[in-house]
This record gives sequence, structure tokens and C-alpha cells, in this order.
Amino acid sequence: MNERIITEEEMEEDKLVETSIRPLSLAEYIGQEDVKQNIKVYVEAAKMRGESLDHVLLYGPPGLGKTTLANIIANEMGVNIKTASGPSIEKSGDLAAILSTLEPNDVLFIDEIHRMPSYIEEILYPAMEDFVLDIMIGGEGNSRSIRINLPRFTLVGATTRAGDLTSPLRDRFGIIAKLQYYTVEELIQIVKRTAKVLNIEIQEDAALELASRSRGTPRIANRLLKRVRDFALVEGNGLIDLEITKKALDRLKIDQKGLDDTDHQLLLAIIQKFNGGPVGIESIASSIGEEVTTIEDVYEPYLLQQGFLKRTPRGRVVTNLAYEHLQIEYQNDLFE
Ligand SMILES: Nc1ncnc2c1ncn2[C@@H]1O[C@H](COP(=O)(O)OP(=O)(O)OP(=O)(O)O)[C@@H](O)[C@H]1O
Ligand SMILES: [Mg+2]
Repeated sequence: MNERIITEEEMEEDKLVETSIRPLSLAEYIGQEDVKQNIKVYVEAAKMRGESLDHVLLYGPPGLGKTTLANIIANEMGVNIKTASGPSIEKSGDLAAILSTLEPNDVLFIDEIHRMPSYIEEILYPAMEDFVLDIMIGGEGNSRSIRINLPRFTLVGATTRAGDLTSPLRDRFGIIAKLQYYTVEELIQIVKRTAKVLNIEIQEDAALELASRSRGTPRIANRLLKRVRDFALVEGNGLIDLEITKKALDRLKIDQKGLDDTDHQLLLAIIQKFNGGPVGIESIASSIGEEVTTIEDVYEPYLLQQGFLKRTPRGRVVTNLAYEHLQIEYQNDLFE
């Protein structure tokens, strides 16, 4: 995938400042009010009972704070967190190795849990349900299964594609939370918080401009803040005001709604090549040279949420709102 400045995916440079700007407690975690309130209750109850928290599934588009929330859950519970990612658990031994390091009530965080191999998933079921691990030992002819007792632990799974989870796995999570795109107000708070942590001075109207062009996504808001800071330093007087913010975001080709070139390409492709749709996702993918899954996970959710794109049984349709936004006249009979 090309490196879009507004990509929700994590880029190398994000990781550098990541540790300092990532909120560590529920109180510092901005927005996602419903999810936060509920988790607060469940954590408190588990602590009062002295038990592990029920297994938690977090899902939603990239960059909305799943990894952050998983770490916060462990912090709030006062336990350790061990992290793995679905595709990295290749052998049953990999899973056994991680599980055997867990202490009572610890959090095991599995990122991209939808990409876990299915035979690993099956070993995970009894571990989640009965806190036991059945593994095969020995080789050809004389292999046997042994059962290992595990401490009670909390599995926190994160995924951008809840639909790709098998139902037996999904059913084993007691707590399922969907993260939503953030409001502009919430993103302003996030931008200001990050600015404070990084010692950046930003004016109120500049924070608003940045927040409204961040696709409802904290990761993008934080990244754009750093880019605007560069422009302010080199082409301004160091202060982040509205003027330098607008200038920087325009130079980065991010429009008023936070859409970038690729979003424009996608909408324009449907309008120009497919008469605005309905058109299948495969056709869109090949016409703009992107993977179907990338479009589904990264590009499309925000366009759907903003009402620029609609999903119909016959395929994707570009809405009037998108025509207006792109300032293209709506002509249904373009090719007739
Ligand atoms: N609620 C929040 N309040 C403040 N900052 C946040 C919040 N949520 C996320 N962030 C910031 O946004 C960045 C991205 O968050 P995070 O890595 O948790 O997203 P993610 O959902 O795990 O993404 P991915 O699907 O790519 O793994 C982090 O730097 C974090 O500091
Ligand atoms: Mg993550």
C-alpha cells in the first residue's frame, strides 16, 4: 500500500512518539463514552470480586484506539499485558509459550485476531473457557495429548474486521465493544492533549481545523499535528495558527472533509467509469489499483460513515453528497 499521510495504518514514525502520547488510563482516554463507561463498570466489578475480567473483543477501523484501550484495560486492572498478533502465532507451541507466561488475571492481547490460523483458534477455545491448554506432545506414532492448567486470564482481541471472526470465537468474548469514529470536538481534545505532551503550541482555531480534517481518527490527528508543526517551524514562526494549518493541510492535499487524493480517486472512478454505481467492490479495486481488503478496511468505512458512499445489494453507489463535495454535476444518464 502506498504511504498516505492520512493513512489510518500505523507508520514507522508514529511508533517513536507513540509511547509518550498514548493515554494510560480510562480517564485520559478521550471519547468512546459508552465503551468507556461499560468497561469501567466491568473492571471495577472484576476487581471487587478479585477475579479476572471477562474476555474483551474490540473492533473498529484502524487508528481509533484499540491497542491503546487494551493497554488501558491492563493498567486499570493492575495486571501485566502480553501482546501477540494473530498471524504471528503460527504453531500451537507459540500460543503455549505465551500462555505459560501468564500470571493470574493478566491480559493477553491478540491484535488482528481475525488473522489467527484456525487450528490455533481451536486450541484457544478451551483456554478461554476452562483455562486449560491441550497440547500434543511426542512425534509420529507415539504422540499424546497433555492438559496444562492455566491461570485465569483475560483475552483482549482486536480486529478491524469483526465479520471475519468465526462465530465460536466471537461467542467466547463476554464483552464486545465497537469503537466509533471520533467527533470533531473529541479530536480537538486529543490534538490539544498531544500538543501539550509534545510541547507544541497550537491555537484554538487551528486545532479545530486539524480535527475536522482528521477523518474521525486520533492516529491521523496526531500525525497531522506533527506535519503541521514542521510547516510552522520552517515556513512560519513556529506557532501553529489557523493560517499555517490550512496551508500545510492544503499542501498535504487533504480536503475540508479529511479526504485525500486516494479517496477522490475512488469516488471519481465510480462516478466516471461506472456512472456513479452500483458497482462491485472488485471492479472499483481494479480500476484504482488497490486491494479489495484495503478498500474495505481503510478507505471505505469513513466514506460510508460520512455518507459519500452507500452500500447496496448490487454494489457501491456514490451519493449526491459526494457529487456536491467534489463539485461534479449529478448526471444519471451520463452514458445513455
Ligand atoms: N481515545 C483516545 N484518546 C487519546 N488518544 C487516542 C485515543 N485513541 C487513540 N489515541 C491515539 O491514537 C493513536 C492510535 O491508536 P491505536 O494504536 O490504539 O489504534 P488501533 O485502533 O489499535 O489501530 P490499529 O487498528 O491500526 O491497530 C495512538 O497514538 C493513541 O495515542
Ligand atoms: Mg492497534
